[in-house]
Amino acid sequence: MGKEYCYVFAVECKALVIDFLVPIAGNATLGHHPYLALLARPSRKRVISRHKKNSVTGGNIVGDKPFLTDIKTLRERARQHIERGAVTEGYSADRETVIRLLNEALATEIVCVLRYKRHYFMATGIHAESVAAEFLQHATDEQAHADQIAQRIVQLGGEPNFSPEGLLTRSHAEYVEGDTLNDMIKEDLVAERIAIDSYREMITFVGNDDPTTRRMMEGILAMEEEHADDLVNLLEKLEG
Ligand SMILES: [Fe+2]
Ligand SMILES: [Fe+2]
Repeated sequence: MGKEYCYVFAVECKALVIDFLVPIAGNATLGHHPYLALLARPSRKRVISRHKKNSVTGGNIVGDKPFLTDIKTLRERARQHIERGAVTEGYSADRETVIRLLNEALATEIVCVLRYKRHYFMATGIHAESVAAEFLQHATDEQAHADQIAQRIVQLGGEPNFSPEGLLTRSHAEYVEGDTLNDMIKEDLVAERIAIDSYREMITFVGNDDPTTRRMMEGILAMEEEHADDLVNLLEKLEG
């Protein structure tokens, strides 16, 4: 870092001399001094840094940071493959893999909807009413997640897989019916914890290559964490 800073400082000082002092000196006898003549020659490194391009975006690089793609290139690229809709040339994620992972998340959400619905209708006992209400709320939330994920798959040019065939294989979470209210809550908690870990990994995988998918999954992850917290509280109430 120190070396780079010194280099930049030296280049800027040299630029100052070239841009301001040399023209002034050029009018005087000093303009013919061999040292000033040397300074007046544009440095090769300086010329290169002015024209350095980002090999990925074609944009300029300022220091070490890639700058924005120029407007002309952006406009040209947007006109190519317009049938791909939201998926532009700048989309850098592995689209096929993202769609496959989203379909697994979709299956996970559908299995969770089915399991929560089953638990909602089968909840019995003295605490059944409040617990069933929680199950129903979670089922509604998971359905909303499934819809969000399906919509994103379509935006990415894929097809959401709603087929019942292989649903449990695609899903990360399991479908366990559970005999008692306690069992049901525990199974739901385990399923939430599976979803939390798998979505966290998906978010890390997508990273900065697909910020829209990442943000959506981050929102869903936050809600699964809330669900897990709700279930732990329910368990404590039942067991305490
Ligand atoms: Fe969910
Ligand atoms: Fe959940």
